[in-house]
Order: sequence, then structure tokens, then C-alpha cells
Amino acid sequence: MMRISVAGTGYVGLVTGACLASQGHHVLCVDTDPKKIDEINAARPPFYETGLKSLLEKTIGKNLFATTNLHESILDSEITFITVGTPFDGKEIDLAYVKEVSVQIGLALKDKPGYHAVVVKSTVVPGTSDEVVLPILEEKSGKTAGRDFGVGMNPEFLTEGQAIADFMNPDRIVLGANEEKTMEILSNLYSAFEGVPIIRTNCRTAEMIKYASNALLALQISYANEIANLCSALGSIDAVDVMKGVHSSYYLSPKTGDGSRITAPIASFLEAGCGFGGSCLPKDVKALIAHGEKHGNAMPLLNAVIETNRRQPMEVIRLLGKHFSSLMNVRITILGLSFKPDTDDMRESPAIPIIQALLERGAILKAYDPVAGHEARKLFQSDQLSLCETLEEAIVGADGVVLVTRWGQFRYVPELITKMNPCAVLVDGRRMIDKRLLSRYEGIGL
Ligand code: UGA
Repeated sequence: MMRISVAGTGYVGLVTGACLASQGHHVLCVDTDPKKIDEINAARPPFYETGLKSLLEKTIGKNLFATTNLHESILDSEITFITVGTPFDGKEIDLAYVKEVSVQIGLALKDKPGYHAVVVKSTVVPGTSDEVVLPILEEKSGKTAGRDFGVGMNPEFLTEGQAIADFMNPDRIVLGANEEKTMEILSNLYSAFEGVPIIRTNCRTAEMIKYASNALLALQISYANEIANLCSALGSIDAVDVMKGVHSSYYLSPKTGDGSRITAPIASFLEAGCGFGGSCLPKDVKALIAHGEKHGNAMPLLNAVIETNRRQPMEVIRLLGKHFSSLMNVRITILGLSFKPDTDDMRESPAIPIIQALLERGAILKAYDPVAGHEARKLFQSDQLSLCETLEEAIVGADGVVLVTRWGQFRYVPELITKMNPCAVLVDGRRMIDKRLLSRYEGIGL
């Protein structure tokens, strides 16, 4: 059992804190927002994440505590995780929260007699732990890193919607530290995860592993989309069939011991679509590009990944254009608003540029999403976008239907269109519908 404090109770901090508490550790989750702290102490997660509420109910008040007092929490723990946000400010990564929390931790360390490990978990560009966090901690504490305290870096690999399962059943554990004591503390903390590959390295490498992992996913998505767009342009090639062929290679679908084939999950990032979004992939790739360029290292490949992704939502507008010479007063329905299924998160969702482009062209818009409607309301007014309660209500009366998010229930869309609205054009932004089911079907890469 270790005594842990976690600075920042966002998505990563709270999931990490709750999971570590469920493993029996004593965890203090710290945030500057007292409202959040009250919610957490009442076992109400401030955001939706599968299984988080029941984890909080089991641990809160027993060995998980939420507080606004960072100073006390540092004195009362042996290791502190930094899990504050690292947004992209339009030009580069914004380290303001990381710096601020480092100042507070440094001031607390001044009053702390024993050794303490400070571990960065936020996604930060390579060099941040050593060159930003460490000097602030030394300055504010008056102490020496490597002797009085240690700095570590332990990136997270949590996918929204399955973050708790990801934490409990990790594919890898990356531990970055520049001296033995902190590495030992981190190794002890993760000793419960038997059989998981552990990569022990320095902080800069740990930071880079996180970016290299996310950039690879983004790269594959834009690659698949570039190929898909070429398929469309050349004609008589369907990108879905092309990708099926690509996925069947032994590289992507290896043979198992009994001779059967399995498809590697990475293949799910190689599909034609209207682009990637979310709070991580776009921001991380942009931050890595900016960091590379700042250090005189051009990043042409990743720049192209972002550029392809910026254009990709416009493919659905082009496909609508095959059926409507003008979109003025054309009734279009958007199916799916969140950046991916099973979340209400609309950050950087391709739905946003698609809706904007349709509004500019004078279309009359309805939308349906199982859970993200309230998020869309923050971005678009009711006279711009009317939100439907059901899939049926969304489809009835539409001239065109644009499928943006791969929600499972959208499998029934062809059936509903055939029954209620056979003249409607379906533009499939995720290629999840069998094209043979509808006569007026358009899809990315078709
Ligand atoms: C991503 C990574 O998958 C996690 O491994 C990582 O830990 C996390 O970011 C993070 O940095 O914290 P997440 O942002 O939850 O996780 O999103 P993904 O499930 O990876 O989906 C990304 C986007 O790509 C979605 O918008 C999805 O619709 C899109 N996508 C996916 C495509 O456009 N095409 C595809 O072929 C596959």
C-alpha cells in the first residue's frame, strides 16, 4: 500500500486515482475547483466514464479522498502525479497548468522532510519534465532533484469510454525517471500488474512514447482517408474492399497457434471515414509538430496528416453535391455528433465543420445523437440545428441524411429510410452501412 496524491481531477487524474484506490492504495485527489471536489466526495463523477461511479462508491471516504489542499496532500503522500490539462493554444502546447501546479508542489516540498517522487502523467512534449517541471520544483523548494526529491514521467494510455478497463488491464507500462529512487517507487506502485511489459527509460523518452503512439494512429487514419479519396476520384474502386484486402495481410491479420486468423485492432484505424477528432489525437499531433518545428526539425508527414484530416469532413459535402446542385433550403439530417461512439464528447468532432459548412450553404438542419445533443446545443442555436429525440424523427422528411459517427444503432438506418423516406440520399461518413441496401447511397471512398 502506498500513499499517493494526484494533482488534477480531470478525466485522467480521477480515473487514475480511483483505480489506484481500488487496488488498496491511499489516494488523495486534488483539484482547485471546490465544486468538483464536493461532487467527487459525494461519489458523483464530474464527467461520464464507464464504471467510474461504482468505483467511487466503493472507495470514497475509505481510502480515496478528494480535497482542494495540495500542500497537505503532498505532506501526506510519498508520490504525487501531475494530471492537469495540457491544451493546444493554437500555436503550441500550453504548459500553464503544469507550471502552476509545479510551483505549488515545489512550495509544499520545501516543508516536507522526507524524499518525494513527483511524476508527470499529463501528456507533455519531450523535455517538459526535465526542463520545465524539475527546475520549478528545485527553485520553489530550495531542494535538489535526485537527492531530496525525484522527477518521473508515466504517460497514460487510456481510451475514453473504456478508461477504467484500460487502466486495470494495461497493454504496457512506461516508467520514465532519471534516478533510481523514483524508478523504484514507480516500479513498486505498478508491481501489481503482472505480465505487463514495462518499459523503463528516461523522462524524455517516456514523453515521446506517448506522442509517437498517438501520432501513429492519426497517421493511419489520414492514410486510409487519402487512399479512400483517390478510390473515389478514380472510379469503380471501393475503398472498403481495398481496405479489406489490406487488412488481410499477415501483418494485420496474423495466424494464431491453431491456424485461425485474427485481425489486429490497429486495422480499425485503417478505414475510410470523415476524419478523426477528440481531445487527444488532433491536439497531440499538432503539439508534436509545433515542438519539432521549434527545434528546427520539420515534420512534413504529420503536417500532411493534419491537413488531410482538416479536409476530410468536406468529402461529405462533395458527395451531397452529386445529388443537389444547391443546398439552399435542402433538409439535411446529421446522424451522430460526438467524435466517436459511446461518448458525448464533441471536441474536434468532424460533425462541427460539417454542420458549419451546411449552414453556410443554407441547408435546413436536424440532428440526432444518442447522447451528445446537449453538447451540440452549446455550439449551435436551435434555429441553426434542431435536435431530434429519436432516429425516426431525424430521418422523416429529410432530403439527405449524413452519417457522421459510428454509433451501433445506426445499423438500422437503411431499414428506416426504406420504410419512412425512400427518396432520401444517405451519405455514409463512416462506411458502416452496406451500400447495396439503398439505391441512393453515397460513401467516402466509393
Ligand atoms: C486516443 C488513443 O486511441 C488512445 O490510445 C490514447 O491513449 C488517447 O487518445 C489519449 O491520448 O489519451 P481517443 O481519443 O479516445 O483515444 O480516441 P480513438 O478511439 O482513438 O478515436 C480517435 C478518432 O479517430 C475518432 O474520432 C474516430 O472516429 C476516428 N477514426 C478512427 C477515424 O476517423 N478513422 C478510423 O479508421 C478510426
